[in-house]
Amino acid sequence: MLGRGVEKSNCHATVSRVSLFQVDIGQAVFDLMGNLADGNAAMARHLLRHLTTTKMLRNPEVYCKASSWFSSSTTPVVDLRSDTLTTPTPRMREAMKNAVVGDDVYREDPTVNRLEEMAADILGKEAALLVPTCTMANTAAILVHCDGRFNEVICGDQSHIHVYEVAAIAQFGGVQSRFVQNQPDGTMDIEQIREKIRPLDDEHQPWTRAICVENTHNRCGGKVLSLEYMKQVRELSSAHNLVLHLDGARLFNAATALNVRPSEITQYCDSVSTAFSKGLCCPLGSIVAGPQHFIAMARRARKALGGGMRQAGVVAAPMIVALEEMMGRLSEDHRRARTIAEAVNAMGDNPVCKVTMSGVHSNIFMLELDGVVTPEQLSQRMQHVTDQERKSLGEVCTALMFPFSKRTVRIVTHNNITDSDVDIVSRKLQYVIEEMSV
Ligand SMILES: Cc1ncc(COP(=O)(O)O)c(C=O)c1O
Repeated sequence: MLGRGVEKSNCHATVSRVSLFQVDIGQAVFDLMGNLADGNAAMARHLLRHLTTTKMLRNPEVYCKASSWFSSSTTPVVDLRSDTLTTPTPRMREAMKNAVVGDDVYREDPTVNRLEEMAADILGKEAALLVPTCTMANTAAILVHCDGRFNEVICGDQSHIHVYEVAAIAQFGGVQSRFVQNQPDGTMDIEQIREKIRPLDDEHQPWTRAICVENTHNRCGGKVLSLEYMKQVRELSSAHNLVLHLDGARLFNAATALNVRPSEITQYCDSVSTAFSKGLCCPLGSIVAGPQHFIAMARRARKALGGGMRQAGVVAAPMIVALEEMMGRLSEDHRRARTIAEAVNAMGDNPVCKVTMSGVHSNIFMLELDGVVTPEQLSQRMQHVTDQERKSLGEVCTALMFPFSKRTVRIVTHNNITDSDVDIVSRKLQYVIEEMSV
């Protein structure tokens, strides 16, 4: 909110004015909501939610009123922005409460030890390590694979490691990432990877140490990389004595879509990271797995990155529940994603959007916009309910979706999304597409 031109000396006064202004807006929006028709109230609610979640709304009284207003709101919110929005199940909360814990840095937390054994087994690796996030899992893995200096890893230009991990591997490991363009199906062309592998004997160039693949591929719209492709990358990396690291934040989705055990995918990689805080609904926690000696070093990397935890059994306990009972339900998320995608395409030719059905592999897919409306316009329209819409549809919802690129909106299904949500949101999408088509 602070303008770039604000003088340093005026800064404090400006901040106070800005805060007051925001409180006033918050109060004003809140007051307005009582008097607005439902459609507009939905918009006001989102503005207020935004002010609240971005902590711009600081007045505790207004904050409390706003919170109770959200919970008493009758229009359901179907939140399709991300599977990271999932919350722990009652069994997970129970498991957290009852977790037997110890100091994990001393390796004395029995719940963490059990989780790591289970995860290693499921991922088909010698050992596994609990880390707080998948970003840390990827970073720790690459730091271990690229010990020493002059190192480089090859990854996709759309990969999470390259795009979203604040260059952690460069900052903490001095490792350069060299990217190969991701194809729409999430793969990197094998020949292009081969071309990027550096010669070992040219002192001008860094050494290529690892290839990183992502399965399922987030930015490519939840695409699943086939076993055949994984095998090809394995063969290439082995031929050049390179390590293959798999960012399997959504590995369990990939296994579900391929109808194979996770270890059938991970057999092709040396190390794998996987996240439990996405479709598996844990509040946090990821696993990095690989050979014993690799995990011994990853433990050091985790420590250096600030991720050595103490009574971490409370984190591990819901992850054990996830391994025991959450993997089986991911197919429901995939089915629901397909149902929404099919509802969009049932609109036939229209100038607003379509979905390439062959690209709907898992719980993430993209609405492809034809340029008549922008991703922001479509997402914003989905966030409110008009009186006319209420009359036509009867059951309505506020839907949150993620404007992803200049021409795409991302939709993600997850444990909070029920069949009835899918039904309501599908009908709303059809209604909005028709409305925006004229
Ligand atoms: C493919 C992929 N890798 C890694 C991560 C990082 O996970 P975390 O948020 O646990 O750091 C994400 C997060 O969405 C992801 O989609």
